[in-house]
Amino acid sequence: PTARLVLDSAFALAPVPRRLFGSFVEHMGRCVYTGIFEPDHPAADEDGLRTDVLELTREIGPTVVRYPGGNFVSNYRWEDGVGPREERPTRLDLAWHSVETNQFGLHDFMTWADRVGTEPMMAVNLGTRGLQEACDLLEYTNHAGGTYWSDRRIANGAADPFDVKLWCLGNEMDGPWQVGHKTAAEYGRLANETGKAMRLIDGEIELVACGSSNSSMPTFGSWESTVLEHCYDTVDYISLHAYYEEYDDDALSFLASAVNMDRFIESVVATADAVRARGRHSKKINLSFDEWNVWYMRRFGGDGPKSSSVEWKPQPRLIEDEYTITDAVVVGTFLNSLLRHGDRVTVACQAQLVNVIGLLRSEPGGEAWKQTIAYPFEQMVRLARGQILQVVATSDLFDSDSYTDVPVVDATATYDAETGRAAVFVANRSLTESASLEVDLRGIGGTAVRAASTLHARDGQDRHTTNLERHDAVTPVRFDDHAVTEGLLTATLPALSWTVFELD
Ligand code: AHR
Repeated sequence: PTARLVLDSAFALAPVPRRLFGSFVEHMGRCVYTGIFEPDHPAADEDGLRTDVLELTREIGPTVVRYPGGNFVSNYRWEDGVGPREERPTRLDLAWHSVETNQFGLHDFMTWADRVGTEPMMAVNLGTRGLQEACDLLEYTNHAGGTYWSDRRIANGAADPFDVKLWCLGNEMDGPWQVGHKTAAEYGRLANETGKAMRLIDGEIELVACGSSNSSMPTFGSWESTVLEHCYDTVDYISLHAYYEEYDDDALSFLASAVNMDRFIESVVATADAVRARGRHSKKINLSFDEWNVWYMRRFGGDGPKSSSVEWKPQPRLIEDEYTITDAVVVGTFLNSLLRHGDRVTVACQAQLVNVIGLLRSEPGGEAWKQTIAYPFEQMVRLARGQILQVVATSDLFDSDSYTDVPVVDATATYDAETGRAAVFVANRSLTESASLEVDLRGIGGTAVRAASTLHARDGQDRHTTNLERHDAVTPVRFDDHAVTEGLLTATLPALSWTVFELD
């Protein structure tokens, strides 16, 4: 296969939204307990935070982290997680059929986020609770002091407000599995009234309304429309969630999943803009793609409620997918999909940070390591700077069982006028063949490759190789199969690969 890209700084789409590179910490399985928090672990600090996981998280660099759920939030009482640990109640978490000890809560998360150097993004419970509890929480986190909830925060050790800017109004409220699931009209009104009241407490916050849990939901489209009819003026974002997996060894369809992601994003933009037109609104609603990843959901029998006969226990091992080289390439294409829509998708959170469909894995009392999918993520956080370029791309195409006319080579690029540097992110979706790539750099004045790396199956590996046995088995390696002549970059991309060029 062959592909040709043209980069031109005149064709900038939008500044790279830094919040595009978020992740997600939910009280689910072992994401919090024995993930980021494990007081008995040899690497735990004085707050019980695993410093090995902290260090790896810093290396990856998520710019924003959503908390505390997910489905969990829809039956969570945030007050349970504040105050002296020994006084915190143990509860049933209905979302994940787990025992929640509440040994980790709001202050613990804020401490962790501060040490990572990431922005917290909070969700309020609009399942079993509503407007009042959301306002209480916001008063607790953001009000300076001198009121009941803000003074309780101060008494619990945080003199300064946490000043959380980004707030999700519930989670996946369209899903029948959600505790407190609602119709679009019920939810739209509740989101509007809750959001309005929250804004009276803090006029600086940004609010995310729940969109569809995925684009196959029977209510997809009408849900977004009805919800936004109710809360257009109150919210800033509508959310999207999507998980993809490989079915029946159909690797080509799996590798083409970002085509579906592109379509999903463009459909939600169109729906939000139709509500804008009907309501004669001037502002635009942006998109918060606040859950996305590969998730082998079928292996775990879906995420519906577990039978109440199953034993209740704390931190059960839930959806601890081990990611492969194929998954890393697919995640690269998801990052490309988000980036090329960065004019409207301005917040996104990969789900989740550790153990639960995680960028990272950690064992109780044991090691922590990066999964294959962490690498494309980390590279894009570090290198996507300045403006997103509208890349003019032509690539050979392929058909799979689920998609037609899929570009074999999928690419995005950014250009930073301040440094004069560009970055190009390229996936070769061919399972068997290398791809010849040409990139015309004259429009960005590009003259040289500063650095290049590729992630692909090396000797002794195949597309199913993971980092489970050898934690550094799959990483990007230096890539030299390229040249630049008179502003034209040529390269031969390995089969099934994720390649990143840094250009001067
Ligand atoms: O990320 C795992 C789960 O997926 C979240 O709790 C939920 O919001 C989604 O269905």
